[in-house]
Amino acid sequence: YKNIFSGIQPTGVPHLGNYLGALRQWVKLQNEADNKTNLYFSIVDLHAITVHQNAEQLRRWRKEMLVSLYAVGLDPARSVIFCQSMVPQHSELMWILSCHASMGYLSRMTQWKSKLSLPENASPLDATPKDKPALRLGLFSYPVLQAADVLLYGTTHVPVGEDQAQHLEFTRELAASFNHAHSTTVFNQPETILSPAKRVMSLTNPTKKMSKSDADVKSRILITDEKDVIEKKIKSALTDSIEGVAYDRDARPGVSNLIDIMYYMDESVAASPEELARDFKDVSMRALKERVAEVVDKNIEPVRTTYNDIMAKDERDRYLTDEATHGAWKAKSQAGRKMEVVRSIMGLQRTF
Ligand code: TYM
Repeated sequence: YKNIFSGIQPTGVPHLGNYLGALRQWVKLQNEADNKTNLYFSIVDLHAITVHQNAEQLRRWRKEMLVSLYAVGLDPARSVIFCQSMVPQHSELMWILSCHASMGYLSRMTQWKSKLSLPENASPLDATPKDKPALRLGLFSYPVLQAADVLLYGTTHVPVGEDQAQHLEFTRELAASFNHAHSTTVFNQPETILSPAKRVMSLTNPTKKMSKSDADVKSRILITDEKDVIEKKIKSALTDSIEGVAYDRDARPGVSNLIDIMYYMDESVAASPEELARDFKDVSMRALKERVAEVVDKNIEPVRTTYNDIMAKDERDRYLTDEATHGAWKAKSQAGRKMEVVRSIMGLQRTF
C-alpha cells in the first residue's frame, strides 16, 4: 500500500510555484493511483495562523484554496481533501510529538528565521514595533505540527517543492525518536517526492523563490490570472541585458526561470529546459516572453475556467461546506485510528 499526504497553506489562490512545485504533482499521483493507494491533501489553516491572520481574510482564503484544489483536478471521490483545523487529531498529536521534539533541531530550521522578519509576523500582540520581532512558540514549533500532519496517516510519500525538504527530514527524525523512545514502529518514515519543477523563482527577483508573501503581486502568477494579467506580469519579469536566450540558472536566473516555467507548463514543447533554450537562442527577449505567456495561458486556462465555475456553483447551491465536511470526516476516521494506537503506547488510553 501507499499513503500519500501533502498540505498547502490557505493564503489565497495558489501561484505557479505552488502549482508546478506541488499541486500538479498531486493531481498526477491521484490520477495514477491504484486501489492500494490512499491520498490525503490538507488545507493547513493551523499552520497559517503561526503568523497573524485577519479572520475574515483567512475565511476567504480557505475557500479560495478549497476551490483551487478542486479546480486543478483533485477529486474528492478519489482523494481525501480537508481542512486541518477540522480534524482535531492534528493538534493532539502535535502536543505528543512536542514532548519528543528537540529544541536544538528546531532552532536550526530555516523557515521560522525567514518568516520572523516578514510584515505578517508583526501582530497586535506587539505593543510597539520593535527592531527585533517576537518569535512566537507556534512559529517555532511549526515543523512539529507538520510532522503530526504527515505521521497521522501512516504516510509513505510526501510530494512537495524543495523548500519543504528540510521539514520532512525533521519529520523522519522525529518519527524515529518517537519509535525509539517507545520501542515501537507506530510511525513509518515517509519519503519526500520532489517535483521536477521543485523551485520556481520570483518574476521580479529571480534569485528568490516565487512566494505568496512577496509584497509585489507582479512577482507571481496566480492560477486564476486572466490572459492579459499573465502577459503583463511576464512582460515585466526581470531578465538581463545579455544578447540571446540561454539556460543557465546561476548566470542568467531570470531567463532560465522563464524557460523553466514554459517547459514545466507544457513538457511537450521540448525534451528539456536546455533544449528549449536552444530552440530560442536567437530570439529576442520580447518574443520569448510573448511565447511564455502564451504557453502559460493556454495551459492554465482550464483551471481558471473550472475555478470560476465552482465558485458560481457554490453561489447557487452552497455545496462546498458539505463537501469539505465529508472530507474532514474521512480524514478524522483515519487519524482517529492512529491516535488510539499512539494513546495506548503512551499510557493515555481511554480505558482504565
Ligand atoms: P506552502 O503552502 O508554502 O506551499 C505549498 C506547496 O507549494 C510548494 N511551493 C513551491 N514549489 C516550487 N517553487 C516555489 N516557488 C514554491 N512555493 C511553494 C511547497 O514546497 C509546497 O509543497 N509547510 C507547508 C505546508 C504543509 C505540509 C504539511 C506539506 C503543512 N503540513 C505536510 C507537506 C506535508 C507549506 O507551508 O507549504
